[in-house]
Amino acid sequence: MRHPTPSPLARLQALAEDAAQCQRCPLWQHATQTVWGEGPPRARLMLVGEQPGDKEDLEGRPFVGPAGQLLDRALEALGWPRDELYITNAVKHFKFELRGKRRMHKTPAQREAEACQLWLDGEIALVKPKAVVALGGTATRALLGKAVPVLANRGQWLPRADGLPVLVTLHPSALLRLRGEDRELAFAQWLTDLRVADSHRA
Ligand code: URA
Repeated sequence: MRHPTPSPLARLQALAEDAAQCQRCPLWQHATQTVWGEGPPRARLMLVGEQPGDKEDLEGRPFVGPAGQLLDRALEALGWPRDELYITNAVKHFKFELRGKRRMHKTPAQREAEACQLWLDGEIALVKPKAVVALGGTATRALLGKAVPVLANRGQWLPRADGLPVLVTLHPSALLRLRGEDRELAFAQWLTDLRVADSHRA
């Protein structure tokens, strides 16, 4: 008897279940859970961040903390409904160091990003986006397979080996480190970068 081919949603869910058990690097030991991507299983545009932060780790959803709030503000300004995008991270577990009771973000090591690569590649293979936005250096490297300077390439499409166009821009956390007018100016420049992907969104 022939079995029906599983839908993209079912295949993504199956991959997410595998990723939930991931112990390919030590980060799972201290994280609460694997934070998988979210969005339509056939979204046209995928956004990739670095790794879940404190709030994402606790809630199990990408970009729901302070960086996510800034991303939401940008999506609203761009007129991009969040629920039409597939949003994920290069690394699926939160890496942190304890300072007192606070869990402070630590940049994932290259070997940790490499251990996680198969999950991101799996999401891309199943969602089949028309284009991807790389938010920051870790995402850019994971998507392009090599280190690419973000500031020198921001707002530009760089092709992956498989031809998928990747728009390089800053990670929202880089903007959160700025204050007042500097942050507003950086936010406006970030929108200019992101707008380059407008035609790939819908
Ligand atoms: N930063 C990221 O890169 N991803 C998140 O999900 C949250 C913060």
